[in-house]
Amino acid sequence: MINFLFTLLLYASSFSFIGAENNYSEIEKNGQELLLCRKCGADVADSYYLFSKESPGAHKIEKQNLFGRQNVTVQTLVNPFGIQFDIVTAEKARCESIGASQGADSWFPGYTWRICTCPHCAQHLGWTFESSKQTDDDKDNVKTFHGLILGNILGENFTDSLIMLPKVYKM
Ligand SMILES: *[C@@H]1O[C@H](CO)[C@@H](O)[C@H](O)[C@H]1NC(C)=O
Ligand SMILES: *[C@@H]1O[C@H](CO)[C@@H](O)[C@H](O)[C@H]1NC(C)=O
Ligand SMILES: *[C@@H]1O[C@H](CO)[C@@H](O)[C@H](O)[C@H]1NC(C)=O
Ligand SMILES: [Zn+2]
Repeated sequence: MINFLFTLLLYASSFSFIGAENNYSEIEKNGQELLLCRKCGADVADSYYLFSKESPGAHKIEKQNLFGRQNVTVQTLVNPFGIQFDIVTAEKARCESIGASQGADSWFPGYTWRICTCPHCAQHLGWTFESSKQTDDDKDNVKTFHGLILGNILGENFTDSLIMLPKVYKM
C-alpha cells in the first residue's frame, strides 16, 4: 500500500504526457480527467472519450459522476468463468490489444474482443471491441471501443481525493 502510493506519486506526474502518438493536447480541457493505469500511473485515456455503450448482458448498469464527467455509464459484466468486472466504455484509449480476436461470448453482440493492456507496464486494463460487421451503414454503432476495468484505472485527481476524502476510496 505504502509502496503503491509512493510509486503512484513518483510516476503519476511524469507519465501524464507520455504518448505523443495519441494527441491528447488537441482536446479542450472541460474539467475531464486523464485516466491512469492504477499499477504504474501511465495515462491510458482521457475521460472526454467515455461514452455509453450498454451490454445487453450487463448484470447492472448505473450512471455515476466519475473522472470529472456526469452520468458515466458503469456496468457490471460477468465473464463465462463467473468473474465480475465493473467497466466504463471509451471510444479511444491507449490500451494495447493483445492476442487473437475472439468472437465467442462477446458482451457486445456484433463485436469481437481482444484483451488490452497498459502500454507501459502490461497490466490488464480491459478489452478492445471491434465491430465484426463489414458495412458501416449503422452510424450509431462505433467501429471500435474499449471496455476499461474501473478497478484497474484511476483518475488523475485521485491523489487529491485521497488526501481530501480518504474514506471514499478503498484499495
Ligand atoms: C497535437 O495537436 C496540436 C493541436 O492540434 C498540434 O499543434 C500538434 O502539432 C499535435 N502534435 C502531434 C504530435 O501530432
Ligand atoms: C482535477 O485537478 C485539476 C488541477 O487541480 C483541476 O483543474 C480540475 O478541475 C480537476 N478536475 C476535477 C474533475 O476535479
Ligand atoms: C445527468 O443526469 C441527471 C439526472 O438524470 C440530469 O438531470 C443531468 O442533466 C444529467 N447531466 C448530463 C451532463 O447529462
Ligand atoms: Zn501500467
